[in-house]
Amino acid sequence: MSRFSLPQDAAFAALNTSLGFDQRLWPHDVAQSRAHVRMLAAQGIISDADRDEILEGLATAAGELATGTFPFQDGDEDIHMAVERRVTELTGPAGGKIHTGRSRNDQVITDLAMFTRAAAEQAKGDLEQLRQVILAVAEAHLDWPLPGYTHLQRAQPVYLSHHLLAYFWMVTRDIERFDAVLSATSLLPLGAGALAGVNFDTDRRMVAAELGFTGVVPNSVDAVSNRDFALDLLHALSVTATHLSRLGQEIVLWTSTEFGFMTLSDAWSSGSSIMPQKKNPDAAELLRGKAPRVWGHQAALHGVIHGLPLTYNKDLQEDKEHLFDAFDTVILCIAAAGGMLETGTFHREAMSAAASDPMIAAVDLADFLVKGGMPFRDAHGVVARLVRESVDGGLSLADVTTADLGPEAAAIFEQSSWLESKVSEGGTSLARVREQLEQARALLAT
Ligand code: ARG
Repeated sequence: MSRFSLPQDAAFAALNTSLGFDQRLWPHDVAQSRAHVRMLAAQGIISDADRDEILEGLATAAGELATGTFPFQDGDEDIHMAVERRVTELTGPAGGKIHTGRSRNDQVITDLAMFTRAAAEQAKGDLEQLRQVILAVAEAHLDWPLPGYTHLQRAQPVYLSHHLLAYFWMVTRDIERFDAVLSATSLLPLGAGALAGVNFDTDRRMVAAELGFTGVVPNSVDAVSNRDFALDLLHALSVTATHLSRLGQEIVLWTSTEFGFMTLSDAWSSGSSIMPQKKNPDAAELLRGKAPRVWGHQAALHGVIHGLPLTYNKDLQEDKEHLFDAFDTVILCIAAAGGMLETGTFHREAMSAAASDPMIAAVDLADFLVKGGMPFRDAHGVVARLVRESVDGGLSLADVTTADLGPEAAAIFEQSSWLESKVSEGGTSLARVREQLEQARALLAT
């Protein structure tokens, strides 16, 4: 018997279904159903015989889902209904008891919490690998100078190790953000029922323990309304995507003929359909191009949730595609970032030549004057004048300086001295970079 006298309009059914995308939740759906029926039996709400029949039906359905042989039917609106229908088909009346004391509202958010936990774990693991790659590439290029840029103008030279380690710390903060996502999914929503709790004496803590949650959501209304951890995951993914887009842009610049700092492995390059000479950094460009799609999903989910009255509303079904696509995108981007760095080749000569323009040592020259007693603002003026003379006269800054301030001042233009004079903690001198590498290695060891 159904409450409805007409079948669903085909367009409504197409709009309403989530099976196309929520299928991937099946391992979580099956796991929570197992925990749920075990608890129902332990509490005497269903018999042990019913429990065993349902568990068997769930095992068969899980096998079919895993091998792609699950017989989906037209009326299966979502993965929850599909699994329940199949278990009932397989077991008869016992299967009809699987949904006792449960609603799809608490079921779907429990699946999503489990998915979010697994996603955060995977992102963390992949970022940990990326950190190792960054560290190894930094160690291999410890004392290779390149220009550091501000406004994409050559500013001050740094070692490539130092520059790359900046990404190590960015990724470290990304990992911490995924840790925060894990704490946001620590409590079990299941047991909230549709919204108010259920008419049975359930043991939610037993289910929580089986599914690896540390406790239960204390309020049933909040349990089925909450999508915070989905927003948290999207935030963590968005920041990671933004970080990777900056690396992508640097790789695009570095691999251009104009920079010539880096060559990508062929495994991470594409050709052009018309220009045979081209070797394009498509993966690096996509690190840049994919980022807005990830934050787009974050903004969209805020849009879905904002202004929604408590508790469950069908709008919330929209949470999944945003989460899945953002996650899948970032996982690929992390792999691409690591792959390009690990297999790319840096060009010492080109980087060092770009970092040997004496102009890049203008601050060092000013600081030399400061060490001789001149106030910094005055020294800045003196050096600005020398830079101008050099630019206007087409002369090197080193020559203008020797003429104006004598040979000791011009000694400042030794490239290694600009780098090795950056002795402050966190600076680019080799001793400080070695300290940083120590800190980084210690983090990996934990
Ligand atoms: N497919 C639904 C979703 O993803 C499951 C929950 C449906 N609940 C309901 N009351 N219609 O949100």
